[in-house]
Amino acid sequence: LRHLLTIEGLPHALITEILDTAESFASMNAQAVKKVPLLRGKTVVNLFFEASTRTRTTFELAAKRLSADVLNMNISTSATTKGESLLDTLRNLEAMYVDMFVVRHESSGAAHFFARHVAPHVSVLNAGDGRHAHPTQALLDMFTIRRHKQDFTRLRVAIVGDILHSRVARSQIHALNILNTGEIRVIAPQSLLPAQVESLGVHVYNDIRQGLKDVDVIIMLRLQRERMESGLLPSEHEFFQLYGLTQERLALAHPDCIVMHPGPANRGVEIDSRVADGPRSVILEQVTYGIAVRMAVMSMIMGGSVTP
Ligand code: CP
Repeated sequence: LRHLLTIEGLPHALITEILDTAESFASMNAQAVKKVPLLRGKTVVNLFFEASTRTRTTFELAAKRLSADVLNMNISTSATTKGESLLDTLRNLEAMYVDMFVVRHESSGAAHFFARHVAPHVSVLNAGDGRHAHPTQALLDMFTIRRHKQDFTRLRVAIVGDILHSRVARSQIHALNILNTGEIRVIAPQSLLPAQVESLGVHVYNDIRQGLKDVDVIIMLRLQRERMESGLLPSEHEFFQLYGLTQERLALAHPDCIVMHPGPANRGVEIDSRVADGPRSVILEQVTYGIAVRMAVMSMIMGGSVTP
């Protein structure tokens, strides 16, 4: 594994290896000794052209727990604001002997662009590109599901909300398919579904009450307004009435159903606070596991032993 740009096409065995490796890091993170020397001497650059709370900080923590040096580029005060191109930014950072770029960008394909142009010893991790892919988010989501549910082949998983603009949904659907998930449902109005979404191997529901029936996992998504054309913007109130996850709707799912959300969550728009903070919610666990999963990916990409 040299780069991680997308989940699409990854072998089942590789995803399982990443999740198994993350298990050891998750145990380590829960204990007092949190640091291992696996990436000592390596330099990781966090290059976030879009806002982030969870992904940027957990990548930073993951790299530091592996003993790497971490450079957090502040894009708003960098020379890109003076017109420096993406390629020149890359070349200049590479001249500082960095080993890995963690890239988030509003354009689909930006991480692939980086991967095509970096020097042979440098790796690229996609931390979210446009509406295309967010591979480590999908991996930490699979890790969370596996911790609670073990066998994917028996699961019904529902992804609810703005599927059309969601790189997270796309990556989750690929990961769930590779892991042979029993049934993947997407629940959304037609206007927030990609064309021919069924070709991704999902069952489509426009009615949330029908879609949630007996599911084992619910993944809620926010309305990604930053990627919508203005004419498409649904009213938040109307969206909550039609697609918001309430306690009453959650009761339609399997009694052991877990509720997930990649964040940021918009309470009262796609999810009721009583559900987000309720006993079925594993939303903050997802954040915690993000560190272990990103440690696993970085240690596997940069070679060396992956046993903490
Ligand atoms: N899930 C996710 O990508 O969150 P951030 O935008 O806070 O990184």
